[in-house]
Amino acid sequence: MTGIHSGAEGLTTTRAQFIEEAQATGQLYIHQPYELYSEANQEAWRRLFARMENRWRRYANPRFLQGIDNLCLDPARIPRLEDVNRFLSPLTGFKAKAVSGYVPAFMFFDCLRNREFPTTITIRDSETLDYLPEPDIFHDIAGHVPMHTDRAFADTLVRFGDCAHTAADIVSTVSDEKERIRRLTSIQKALARFFWFTIEFGLMRDGPDLKVYGSGLLSSYGEIAHAIDSPEVQRFPVQLEWVINQYFEIDHYQPLLFIVDSFDHLYELVGTLEQWMKQGKLDNVSPGEPAVSESDLRSFLEAAERA
Ligand SMILES: [Fe+2]
Repeated sequence: MTGIHSGAEGLTTTRAQFIEEAQATGQLYIHQPYELYSEANQEAWRRLFARMENRWRRYANPRFLQGIDNLCLDPARIPRLEDVNRFLSPLTGFKAKAVSGYVPAFMFFDCLRNREFPTTITIRDSETLDYLPEPDIFHDIAGHVPMHTDRAFADTLVRFGDCAHTAADIVSTVSDEKERIRRLTSIQKALARFFWFTIEFGLMRDGPDLKVYGSGLLSSYGEIAHAIDSPEVQRFPVQLEWVINQYFEIDHYQPLLFIVDSFDHLYELVGTLEQWMKQGKLDNVSPGEPAVSESDLRSFLEAAERA
């Protein structure tokens, strides 16, 4: 009885009543009802954090480790977003902003442009620590937010937001509706692929070594080691023309990863991506994953109407 209730009352991924209600009433931006976290939720955070610490020390980019320190995350308690922001904002102006679920692509990038990071507040079930298709607060706060303490990285995210606005501007000039959607779909694929292979799964040179800076890796106990150590993973110096045409799948370890030299290098690449977009070079990328959802498309089309 108690067990069933604590599940329903907690903030467990896919099982949180608070989130269901927010979604049902169309509230995307929400607050973090901290008192709703159950003991099982806190236990999940503790276990996730405890087992990642050694892995981070061994595999993570030094700026990430510094970011973990700067944010003063408590290994024993799920963070309050307001506490995280108190340490984060003075460094780069970024803030974690609680959301009830998926943020359509344009809105997501636009948040980044305003230095707001849409943040999931639920946490995975403590019984299934390893694989989870949805983001959770551990992925978002322990995987993403420490990187937002780095100035060049934070500026890179803002540039992604600029790219989304440029995309909306470009398609607003296309009068034929079919062509508008075709081009937008292609540009969105390119953006999503670039985001995936850098922000989520990027590797970076660190002297003679490779280190992880992508958040999908930084929040995965198994994959962070696999990404660096496994002979099954192919690792290549990043090439923009390859990345934007490379499909990816989200339900298994990534077999192919790309390496950047530095955060300044990453920042420059987003600038090139935007140039290419303006030159029409993202209009015909290869088909395949990721699929561009109806809501993602609509978010860009609505922005284009405002442009
Ligand atoms: Fe992520």
